[in-house]
Amino acid sequence: MIDRRSRAEGHPRIIVALDYGAAKSALALVDRLDPGLCRLKIGKELFTAAGPGLIETLVHRGYAVFLDLKYHDIPTTVARACRAAAALGVWMVNVHALGGRAMMQAAREALARENQPPRLVAVTVLTSMAAEDLLELGIAGAPMEVVKRLARLAQSCELDGVVCSAQEAAPLRSECGAEFCLVTPGIRPAMAGPDDQQRVMTPRAAVDNGADYLVIGRPVTRAPDPLAVLREINREID
Ligand code: C5P
Repeated sequence: MIDRRSRAEGHPRIIVALDYGAAKSALALVDRLDPGLCRLKIGKELFTAAGPGLIETLVHRGYAVFLDLKYHDIPTTVARACRAAAALGVWMVNVHALGGRAMMQAAREALARENQPPRLVAVTVLTSMAAEDLLELGIAGAPMEVVKRLARLAQSCELDGVVCSAQEAAPLRSECGAEFCLVTPGIRPAMAGPDDQQRVMTPRAAVDNGADYLVIGRPVTRAPDPLAVLREINREID
C-alpha cells in the first residue's frame, strides 16, 4: 500500500482521471485497477455527484487521491477547504495560481499545520485559454510567459508544484528546478488516439520532458483491459 500522503514518492507516476458522473461507475473501474500501479484523480464532476465519502472509500482501499477542485476564493476560504481536503486523507490538492499570493500562502500555512499534509500544487493558465483570452482578462504576455510567471509565484509561496501541459514541462523544469513537482495531463500512449485533446505527448516523452506525474483518463478508463494498459505505461516510463 502506498503512503497516501508521502512527499518523497514517485512510483506510481500515473494518475488515472476518474471522469465519471456517479460513484458507481467510478468504483466499477477502480475495482479493475491496482493502487500499486496508479493514483486516482477526482475532479469537480465526480466530487459534486458523489461527495467526500467516495474519497474516503478510495483512500481506505489504498489509493493516493488527487483532489482536483482547483480552489480559487478568498484566502480564509481556500485555507479551510485545503484543511478539509487534508482531513479526507487526500495525497494531493490544488488551487488556482490566479487566486494570488495571499491565497496560496494561506493554503500553504493551513496545510503546514497538518500532520501529513497533502501535496499542494497550482493550476497556472488553463490550457483551454489562448493569448486573446488572457488579453481580454487584462493579462499581458504570451501564454507561456504567463505560465512561467505564475509557476514562479506558486514556488515563491512554497507550493510543491504546478499542473501543466507536457509541452510546458521542459521550460518549467528549467525555470523552477528539479524539486518542483510537475503534473501533466494530455498524455496519450503511442497506441491510443488523441480523443478531444489537441496537443498530446506519449508517457515516455512527458517524463523525458520533466513531468513527475501523468494524468491519464480515457486511454485507461475506456480500455478493454485497464490494468494491462497501466502495466504497459509503467513499463514504458520506469
Ligand atoms: O481522458 P483524458 O486523458 O484526456 O483526461 C485528462 C484529464 O486531465 C481530464 O480529467 C481533464 O479534465 C484533465 N485536464 C486536461 N487538461 C488540462 C487540465 C486537466 O486534460 N490542461
